[in-house]
Amino acid sequence: MYSEKVMEHFENPRNVGELADASGTGTVGNAKCGDIMKMDIQVEDDVITDVKFKTFGCCAAIATSSMATEMVKGKTVKEALELTNTAVAEALDGLPPVKMHCSLLAEQAIHAAVEDYQKKHQ
Ligand code: FES
Repeated sequence: MYSEKVMEHFENPRNVGELADASGTGTVGNAKCGDIMKMDIQVEDDVITDVKFKTFGCCAAIATSSMATEMVKGKTVKEALELTNTAVAEALDGLPPVKMHCSLLAEQAIHAAVEDYQKKHQ
């Protein structure tokens, strides 16, 4: 049901953990399945220099958080806000249709972390 890339990120997720001194943090959840995702970002000169996540969730949620962290690292906060769940799913060679909502958590968590950073640094 899952692509090899999804399984690989699920088994070896990148950037797991927390940032003690995060510039921004976003926590989002899916009310239906109860899964929760938290993203911490470190920002320097508007560029995301580090990102860590913690996901309590399904295989697709973990794989998409892992891929999303890889995709925003080194990007500007503006570019990170343009990250979409479909781009994350595509980078993982697709997700089964019933699992697309899981990738939405990754998009929302990244956006929430960036918005938190922007609120604190206006
Ligand atoms: Fe909840 Fe995947 S089933 S995020």
